[in-house]
Amino acid sequence: EATAMRVMITGGLGFIGSQMVRYLLETVPDIHIINVDALTYAGNLENLKDYENDPRYEWVHASIGDQATLDRVLAENPVDVIINFAAESHVDRSILSAAPFVTTNVLGTQVLLELARTHHVPRFLQVSTDEVYGSLPLGGSNWFSETSPLTPNSPYAASKAAADFLCLAAFRTYGQDVVITRCSNNYGPYQFPEKLIPLFITNGLEGKTWPLYGDGQNVRDWLHVSDHVRALWMVALQGKSGQIYNIGGHNEKSNREVAEALADILHLPYSVITPVADRLGHDRRYAIDSQKITKELGWHPLVDWEQGLRDTVQWYKDHEAWWKAIKTGAYLEYYQQQYGPL
Ligand code: NAD
Ligand code: DAU
Repeated sequence: EATAMRVMITGGLGFIGSQMVRYLLETVPDIHIINVDALTYAGNLENLKDYENDPRYEWVHASIGDQATLDRVLAENPVDVIINFAAESHVDRSILSAAPFVTTNVLGTQVLLELARTHHVPRFLQVSTDEVYGSLPLGGSNWFSETSPLTPNSPYAASKAAADFLCLAAFRTYGQDVVITRCSNNYGPYQFPEKLIPLFITNGLEGKTWPLYGDGQNVRDWLHVSDHVRALWMVALQGKSGQIYNIGGHNEKSNREVAEALADILHLPYSVITPVADRLGHDRRYAIDSQKITKELGWHPLVDWEQGLRDTVQWYKDHEAWWKAIKTGAYLEYYQQQYGPL
């Protein structure tokens, strides 16, 4: 393993991070992965169970804010790149309580950046989001580009924007090698059933209704998680230091369109869709211009939306034990707080 590429993934037990770990272990022949994950409510050992005993993979049970532990880990295991997925990721939870978002997304990123600097880690990839750009008007033909101003609206988005600024500051101030990606909404297997698509699929399979916020006309730009992680690896290897890369599939759908597409796949009547009170500060529309990563690195999305959505529904049908285990206990409390008696 002397020549193996050594990668520190943070948040690798979550939705996108676990897809990254699977992608690397399956496609990069010489790789060693250290996964730093605090195993919050969103982390799940089941997501990487198949690789538990793979000698190329190890999990460190720690928070990205735990400077002392990670200092030791990096002293013993120098890495070529850190890819930071670890975050509190759900907008509705950030509206209920912003504190954990600041702790992990802002302070955690600052600790990691400092560790990358003191251990001379050659590259730091910050996995950010299009939500830092704020909201676009409905029906517009304008998109977010890498030079769009940052006008985050939710506590989640504000915490991710703060982390992006800390990354850019590390590049400018200390000359650290930092790259940032900003991706649109992901969907696919292993997504925690608090997010729109897996919430609706699993509620549908349980015979429950689908809480659609407001008028259902808010637009999101959906990308399959496998297209996201392929883009991330390209940026990790070939992205230019100090640069930002948007990632998106030009696949804008209103929430009602997504709900109706899911109802069709699941053979459910549209009456399952239940309008509820709107999310506070609900961003109207996200749309990503990803020309830069296409031109500079040759990335294109590969997964067709209709096929990707059908496959995702099938995955949840085939992995009932995975989501049923999640949708008990602490999840029920959150559900009750968020949706009341629904
Ligand atoms: P997720 O909530 O499914 O997973 C988050 C993971 O991070 C979990 O395994 C959790 O245990 C871990 N974690 C949380 N706090 C931690 C801490 N302090 N230290 C170590 N680990 C911690 O999230 P996701 O949807 O996979 O998102 C991953 C990243 O991608 C986030 O940074 C998010 O902002 C970004 N992102 C997500 C999307 C999307 O559509 N889901 C789109 C663009 C960007
Ligand atoms: O754009 C990237 C972002 O996408 C990521 O940075 C976030 O981590 C990720 O959670 C996601 O944020 P959204 O807020 O867009 O995703 P969510 O699945 O929560 O909601 C998608 C849309 O569906 C949004 O307009 C709100 C709406 N919605 C959501 C839920 C959970 C509903 O109408 N009903 C619901 O119950």
